[in-house]
Amino acid sequence: MFKEAPSSSIERVDRAGAARPLPKPGILDIHAYVPGKATAAGIAEPIKLSANENPLGSSDKAYEAYATAERSLHVYPDPRATIIRTAIAERYRLDPERLIFGCGSDEVFALLNQTFLEPGDNMVQGQYGFAAFAIGANACQAEVRRAPEPNLCIDVDELLTCVDERTRIVFLANPGNPTGTWIPFSEVRRLHEALPPSVVLVLDGAYSEFALDPDFDDGLDFARTSTNVVVTHTFSKLHGLAALRIGWGYAPLEIAQAVDRIRLPFNTSIAAQRAAVAALADEDFQQATLDLTQTWRPWLTQQLSGLGLDVVGPSATNFVLVGFPDHSQRTSAQADAFLSSRGLLVRAVGIYGLANHLRITIGLEAHNRALVEALAEFMAQ
Ligand SMILES: Cc1ncc(COP(=O)(O)O)c(C=O)c1O
Repeated sequence: MFKEAPSSSIERVDRAGAARPLPKPGILDIHAYVPGKATAAGIAEPIKLSANENPLGSSDKAYEAYATAERSLHVYPDPRATIIRTAIAERYRLDPERLIFGCGSDEVFALLNQTFLEPGDNMVQGQYGFAAFAIGANACQAEVRRAPEPNLCIDVDELLTCVDERTRIVFLANPGNPTGTWIPFSEVRRLHEALPPSVVLVLDGAYSEFALDPDFDDGLDFARTSTNVVVTHTFSKLHGLAALRIGWGYAPLEIAQAVDRIRLPFNTSIAAQRAAVAALADEDFQQATLDLTQTWRPWLTQQLSGLGLDVVGPSATNFVLVGFPDHSQRTSAQADAFLSSRGLLVRAVGIYGLANHLRITIGLEAHNRALVEALAEFMAQ
């Protein structure tokens, strides 16, 4: 188990006697989130494959709905996000009162952390868990426990080894970012069965729509009857609304109501609510996104493997994680720089402890071909 910032060992300082305001203990130990690169020196329009955005853009219907918000800039949004609450409840046959909306699913994680973690508590996640989980937990002065992920995949037994009487939340992104790997639902169920009922199990389904194996399940059905499971989803990936920052969670009523007490009142905008409703209804756009992924994911995997790279997986997401084997005598940092110089932006994942890997979003055909061509040149150097 890898532990981080245990709250008991956080250094206490005399903040009242300080010459200037000091953040509470632990805050300055947090590594701020590092987003995927968006610019390449000297290249006006680089190809951005660094943030797992939707290469098709957004649904035309979402653009139209967004435009209708143009004359509402002076009005506060509906704090309950009723239009999207109703739309999601209908689409997935859910109880609308149990839905939580956030400024991205990131905010839903932060709200859950704030609701359940106090100093001395711990949050358990996989070794390569999505960065936002731990940032929020550390901000609550909780301990973050990272369970080893052998073969870059979640291991339920390792997660369970980390759980003790001070565990309040287990975060599981399935499929995971940055690994792209997933565990079958039988394993999620086994994890849930072994957890004390007092622990919240968060199943982050940001990439779940891209996981097409029949053994995969996002857990939403399971969450209907569970008292401690929260399933989260985002409009940032499949629906291509990353800029609008809207995500949601489905929680037991008591959890949804508790979270609602601390949620900032107007946390999703009018434009986001309207565009999300339109995007949710545009199944053609969703299918086009899935078709694109299904076409190019195996192609990229095959091509990159053919270059001697270790493609982690198989990926069940809209990206692939690629390792540079030691014997290749090429490093991911060199590859990253080379790709940037060609206007191809990918994601270094050193902050996840993956010093010699790159995460690459599956793009449009031209993007994928350009990427493989550039990497082939790099590997041949
Ligand atoms: C695993 C995972 N969960 C959640 C999110 C956050 O998504 P959102 O844009 O809804 O905050 C991301 C974003 O990249 C992610 O990779």
